[in-house]
Amino acid sequence: MAGIAMTGPVPVRIPVTVSATLAANEALAAKRRRGERVLPLAFGEAGLPVLPLLRTALAEAGGRNAYGPVAGLTALREAAAGYWARRGLPADPAAVVCGPGSKPLLYAVLLALGTDVAVPRPSWVSYAAQAGMIGTRPHFVPTVPGQGGVPDPALLAQAVTGARADGRHIGAVIVTLPDNPTGTLAQAGTVRELCEVASEHDLVIISDEIYRDLIHDPAATFTSPAALAPERTVVTTALSKNLALGGWRIGVARLPGGGQVAPPAARLRDRVASIASEIWSAPAGPIQQAAAVAFAEPPEVTERVARSRRLHAAVARAVAARFAAAGVPGPVPGAAFYLYPDFTPWRELLAARHDVTTSQDLATLLLDRYATGVLPAAAFGEPAGALRLRVATGLLYGSTGEQRESALAAPDPLALPWIAAALTRLDEILADLGAG
Ligand SMILES: Cc1ncc(COP(=O)(O)O)c(C=O)c1O
Repeated sequence: MAGIAMTGPVPVRIPVTVSATLAANEALAAKRRRGERVLPLAFGEAGLPVLPLLRTALAEAGGRNAYGPVAGLTALREAAAGYWARRGLPADPAAVVCGPGSKPLLYAVLLALGTDVAVPRPSWVSYAAQAGMIGTRPHFVPTVPGQGGVPDPALLAQAVTGARADGRHIGAVIVTLPDNPTGTLAQAGTVRELCEVASEHDLVIISDEIYRDLIHDPAATFTSPAALAPERTVVTTALSKNLALGGWRIGVARLPGGGQVAPPAARLRDRVASIASEIWSAPAGPIQQAAAVAFAEPPEVTERVARSRRLHAAVARAVAARFAAAGVPGPVPGAAFYLYPDFTPWRELLAARHDVTTSQDLATLLLDRYATGVLPAAAFGEPAGALRLRVATGLLYGSTGEQRESALAAPDPLALPWIAAALTRLDEILADLGAG
């Protein structure tokens, strides 16, 4: 007998691949299991231990076994509102929705909006993937050189108009402040112009500020679109990076209006909450309670974030300096634990000696020959031939909790033997790669 007969239309399947970051991480883990010495520069993990205060708060909340409200516990929404208020973005707890990480919150916001979305080129791997999964289209718009994370406002306006002429409706734009993959922060003027374009074309701005607390220079001016265009900006953040709690899976979104939830913001909040209710119901109760402690920012938390920021700055800048010394330039990292070296000066050398012509070829060569994990620029929406890589340094702080604590406490983390060894290994790899 023949197989199952298909009657009716074949369902449309949207291609879904494993996130490039997770795929690179798995390949590296397999090499490590085989005993190879790996250099883990692919995964955007903050690579630091849990602050003891938060560990205790989580343990004490273990009895919280009810589902709880979809938008999150009042204590967490109030704490998140306070967190934003201390950063000049007053928020009504009613305008806050919590989720199991900011990634699902971003997905829920995109699904709730249901329009095409403009995303920076380059930008974090998941924005475009999520837009594709919900059946809308991401439109990549290049950033201003040196200012990652924000589409060039003039090019954004052109993209919106051009898309309309093609029958597509771009109703939202995503910005990353500061940026992953480039580790840079867009200037206030660029954010202002972006807000003007958004207002002119009636775009919702989705401002992903997950790295905000990790800007290396704490005195740097940070301009959120939510301060300039509050009526149209959604802000998302989480504890995954500033407190290295990615595995706790907790994120928060501040819906437009922030201080007061007027319609259409209330409609958006209700749609996001409805989506949440059908997908995750509510974030894990004990995690929410511990997250409320973190967002309230007692001195231990502030101190931990400040130390983490210093460590990330020292190591990311040292790694960038190694690339630059080898003749591979890139923007000086200004936030978090990322750098974005540009191998364009090596283009001929890489093609002639290694048959490498794309960022994917280069990432594959580094993985296969040197057990070094990095992400190709192509994963961030760049053209295949753009010879850039996203290098993440958060997993260089050590392989044990003890080593990572030492890295946090060290006045000169670069002098720690395991960090120094990783830097030396990078020098060797770059020298060997350049030599053919
Ligand atoms: C720019 C950016 N946004 C959002 C996320 C998602 O983080 P989470 O879901 O842990 O909140 C990440 C994680 O790598 C990221 O780099």
